Amino acid sequence: MVVAVDGPAGAGKSSVCRELARRLGFAYLDTGAMYRATAWAVLQSGRQEASAEELAEVLKDFPLEFDIRDGSLRILWQGKDVAEDQLRTPQVTAWASRISQQKPVRDLLVHWQRRLAAQRDVVAEGRDMTTVVFPDASIKVFLTADLTARVRRRLGDYRKMGLDPDPDKLADEIRMRDEADAGRALAPLKPAPGAWVVDTSDLTFEEVVELLSKRVGSRRPVS
Ligand code: DC
Repeated sequence: MVVAVDGPAGAGKSSVCRELARRLGFAYLDTGAMYRATAWAVLQSGRQEASAEELAEVLKDFPLEFDIRDGSLRILWQGKDVAEDQLRTPQVTAWASRISQQKPVRDLLVHWQRRLAAQRDVVAEGRDMTTVVFPDASIKVFLTADLTARVRRRLGDYRKMGLDPDPDKLADEIRMRDEADAGRALAPLKPAPGAWVVDTSDLTFEEVVELLSKRVGSRRPVS
């Protein structure tokens, strides 16, 4: 079973989907982390300015792999685990948004995402889970929140990492990323037909998780 969740940055997708997956006993597939890992790896290789054609070549033998371990995504670069915090820096965030617009990158990651979901039940979260990767998912959710709520949440995330970005600059960055994610030609962020739109601006984390678990519970096949 696939629970597919899309939405803009800071809508609470990651924390909600991680907890939802834990409660359901599903694996949690954080596809944003896959784009971040690819951006990080491309930066490591110094190939961030490569054209789409060059990138396609670079990715052919790229030593980047994905797996699920203990219900979560595992990222391996040259056979070694990549630490999550390396993928959350402002630099990687900016490059992830850029390289996620490249077709060779999307093709590669969509392939990995379907492969990982073929073996197990997953809560898959990203920008194109409901529209492109899993259009036939049992449950399709578009999780959103207004800009003020999203800036507040992202500030909290950065502060936990010891960073203290300017709130106005952060709002501008989020707005620009929204525009890039929603306005791009490939797999733009938008609610899929039949997706359930949930606005989390005035909901607590617990309320959102509860709402989603109930919906999954009502759709889950009886085994
Ligand atoms: O959710 P996030 O902030 O970790 O995502 C990082 C970037 O990856 C973001 O700019 C959008 C992109 N992304 C995407 O294009 N498709 C996905 N399925 C997930 C993320």
